[in-house]
Amino acid sequence: MKIALGADHGGFELKEKIKQHLSKKEGIEVIDKGTNSKESVDYPKYGHAVANAVVSKEVDFGILVCTTGVGISIAANKINGIRAALCHNEYTARLSRLHNDANIIALGARVLGEDLGLACVETFINTEFEGGRHARRVGKIEQ
Ligand code: RB5
Repeated sequence: MKIALGADHGGFELKEKIKQHLSKKEGIEVIDKGTNSKESVDYPKYGHAVANAVVSKEVDFGILVCTTGVGISIAANKINGIRAALCHNEYTARLSRLHNDANIIALGARVLGEDLGLACVETFINTEFEGGRHARRVGKIEQ
């Protein structure tokens, strides 16, 4: 599984923790699209970089982090084919895969903290889309 990571300055530290966590796992390749420091940057650049990596199939999933997760998820969702889910707990992370076939999880670094952020990521990457009636609904989003 290939996963692209992206964050602005507000999400940089959590993005680094997620990178460390995922890099230890067998079968996961992490591609870091930045940012690479706590210097102030504009989140759309990183939202778009990860979204483009997902739609071009360079990666299977994306993970985005900013202070709240709001701006970077809005930016990613402007790219056709992206279903970026702003998740606040393991329940929303799980349902975003089961029901929405989300291809990006967006997290708010100051909303979640490290442990919950990592738990959301684990749930997201380990949950399969349920299909069925949800495939019809996701199809309507894509239309
Ligand atoms: C940056 O200060 C902050 O606005 C950004 O990280 C994000 O939370 C925007 O939605």
